[in-house]
Amino acid sequence: MVSLSSESDSITVVKQAVGKAAARRVKSGAIVGLGTGSTTAFAIQYLGEFLRSGALTNIRGIPTSYQAAALARRYGIPLTTLDDVDRIDIAIDGADAVDPQKNLIKGGGAAHTQEKVVDSLADLFIVVVDRSKLVDHLGVVPVPVEVLPFAVTPTMRAIQKLGGKPEIRMATSNKDGPVITDQGNMVLDVKFDRIDDPGELNRTLNTIPGVVDSGLFVGAAQVVLVGEMQQGEPVVWEM
Ligand code: A5P
Repeated sequence: MVSLSSESDSITVVKQAVGKAAARRVKSGAIVGLGTGSTTAFAIQYLGEFLRSGALTNIRGIPTSYQAAALARRYGIPLTTLDDVDRIDIAIDGADAVDPQKNLIKGGGAAHTQEKVVDSLADLFIVVVDRSKLVDHLGVVPVPVEVLPFAVTPTMRAIQKLGGKPEIRMATSNKDGPVITDQGNMVLDVKFDRIDDPGELNRTLNTIPGVVDSGLFVGAAQVVLVGEMQQGEPVVWEM
């Protein structure tokens, strides 16, 4: 488990608690969608811990990214693929924003395309977030949009015509130039003043030639687990 060293770490403690709460909802024998990001990483860690202790048996994971696959291997979770299963029982994944209808913005880690496939196939999709991710309306956080690199310029123009302000996501460390997704594409972070109809915006964005998928997840999440500190202790509640 993670070692906690300083005040940094109330956010880490909260993510750990919410990841653990989600992992506890997984039953033996389940096919589990493994999301991407720092919160889901704790869920994956706990799934491995529960397998080692015998509290869980016979689960198989479907990763949504290289990161999720690597973590699953590190923590001893057997992996499978969408070609080898006929169902996903449960998916656990983080989010960058969650509105009161449980609509999400995802893709802060540039993994939303694979995440949307896996999360939307799951019988039960559980979102794991800390309280800071809860918003009244989607639109404060930019919407990630994965795009084919050769189409990035016309795609940006089309998005501007919709009223969005797209920016190519640039790497901030250990790489110069744009962030490249696990699929070899680029990501636009698109600011909209306010998103009144996320389903309609998702459909519109996804019809622009060159767009692979937007990070708007509408009507996909059944359960949102929220972690926060209360009187110095991490508390997890269901939205
Ligand atoms: C990955 O691309 C994202 O969709 C993540 O699931 C999302 O950014 C949440 O990540 P954190 O749990 O690290 O905040």
